[in-house]
Amino acid sequence: MEMDKLVSLCKRRGFLFQSSEIYGGLNGFWDYGPLGVELKRNLKNAWWQDMVTGHDDLATLPGAPSPYEMTGLDCTIIMHPQVWKCSGHFDLFCDMMVDCKETKRRYRYDQLRGRWVEAKGQRVFVTTTAEAEAEGEDLQRRALKAFNLRGKDADQLAWDGDVVSLDKVDDLSLAYAPEAKEVGTLTEPREFNLMFKTIVGAMGTADDAAFLRPETAQGIFVNFKNVLDSSRVKIPFGIAQQGKSFRNEITPRNFTFRSREFEQMEIEFFCHPNESRKWYEYWRDRRMKWYTDLGLAGERLQLREHDADELSHYSCGTADIEYAFPFLPEGEFGELEGIAHRGDFDLRSHMEGKLVKNAEGCLELETVPIEGHPDRTRPKYKGSGRDLQYRDEVTNERFTPHVIEPSAGADRGALAFLCEAYHEDEQPDDKGKMQTRVVMQLHPRLAPIKAAVFPLVKKDGMPEIAQEIYRGLKKKFPAFYDEKGAVGRRYRRQDEAGTPYCITVDGQTLDDNTVTVRDRDSLEQWRVKVDDVVAEIESRVS
Ligand code: GAP
Repeated sequence: MEMDKLVSLCKRRGFLFQSSEIYGGLNGFWDYGPLGVELKRNLKNAWWQDMVTGHDDLATLPGAPSPYEMTGLDCTIIMHPQVWKCSGHFDLFCDMMVDCKETKRRYRYDQLRGRWVEAKGQRVFVTTTAEAEAEGEDLQRRALKAFNLRGKDADQLAWDGDVVSLDKVDDLSLAYAPEAKEVGTLTEPREFNLMFKTIVGAMGTADDAAFLRPETAQGIFVNFKNVLDSSRVKIPFGIAQQGKSFRNEITPRNFTFRSREFEQMEIEFFCHPNESRKWYEYWRDRRMKWYTDLGLAGERLQLREHDADELSHYSCGTADIEYAFPFLPEGEFGELEGIAHRGDFDLRSHMEGKLVKNAEGCLELETVPIEGHPDRTRPKYKGSGRDLQYRDEVTNERFTPHVIEPSAGADRGALAFLCEAYHEDEQPDDKGKMQTRVVMQLHPRLAPIKAAVFPLVKKDGMPEIAQEIYRGLKKKFPAFYDEKGAVGRRYRRQDEAGTPYCITVDGQTLDDNTVTVRDRDSLEQWRVKVDDVVAEIESRVS
């Protein structure tokens, strides 16, 4: 599937719009249209239902070491600034970036890629962006430009080595930036914190600075004790949260994949340290199954365990659930969700202060010298000092729970389901001529509209019967009534919207009180009694 086709369908049918489009749009921000809002809500509701409200606290689920409890939270986007100091985000949530002094464009250091090439006695590192690379932009063309050579002089270019990322290059003065005319216009890499800063209160002093959360997780950690005390849950248990997160991404791109405002669906699962490895494996497999159950089956979905050198500073194990998005180069996958074993890093950080790994690989409080007393130190950022330990009522054991974190993006999930759903086939139109049909094969739980009702013609009482069915459906779930145009065109419109079932009231309805139900994917049609049609559709979409 070509991405352009999906992007245009999303706009045409109202799944996704560029934010503030009438003013030229704002890079990295997206709005969900009438169909998109239902799709994303269905995805979030499916997650909440399957992970939280529908979870059976008493059963031992397949692969789980024991039964466990699940509960939820909804925390604020702006939190106490100390939260981000202790979590590590204030110091570490950065990307390295370089600016081009000539074009004034900014790039992620590790995302600029290029190749060494020599000509006219000069050696230059010709760069390209990941986007240009994905689109097959020709490095040779840029190299010729850099040396002021013509196409017929290509044999003067001596290439050296493979395409590698810019951060592997020692001397940036030899780098030829994308779109620049001169060589050596890139600045040295600088750290760029991805958190959006804002001001709380009217005074607007530096002390009033706060941040929009870059993840929902921290709201859960700082409320750990509140949840324990108020709901009397016992370990092992999980706290779930869905909500907006914000990251000032340097290069937002690939439709909604990397946005600056997006929604996360996160679970922090608290367990005994001795059991954390087993729970990590349980959540990794459980979350993978959730995507496949909703239709992301096949080789475009994969589970990938991180290598030790890829792990975050706190993690003893991480797996990503990844999808081969069509905008990525062949064979590359993009992250939908990370499942991380975070040990006791988060709860300890909010008790003690910001932690770092020491030479032995153990977590310890990060300290800085006290001014005027070079031989004495203080914690870099002080924790809350609150006791966030857990006491087992049966054994009386006190311990800091370990955390397993399945962290998913609702927007990336929605995008993956849209990509997977897009299909084209050839079907005869109303006049029997073969036409390309675009059909969004969304899982019925995710489909924005569950059923559409059409009267075959606008007479003989058919609209009245169809409207009655439509009202019956509407009481249960989103349904659509359409009496405009040829019935084949009405089917096509619903196929593009991903509506799993279409119901048609026709001449036979007037004789035997039955209607036709049509399946979006198999195109199978069968007749159902008018009185049974709501129950029939309900059983199929739930
Ligand atoms: N609490 C852990 C955490 O936030 P993450 O891998 O940075 O981990 C989790 O983010 C998920 O959030 C990602 O797998 C992705 O689905 C989503 N996500 C992260 N950054 C995003 C962005 N800029 N745009 C859209 N989704 C994003």
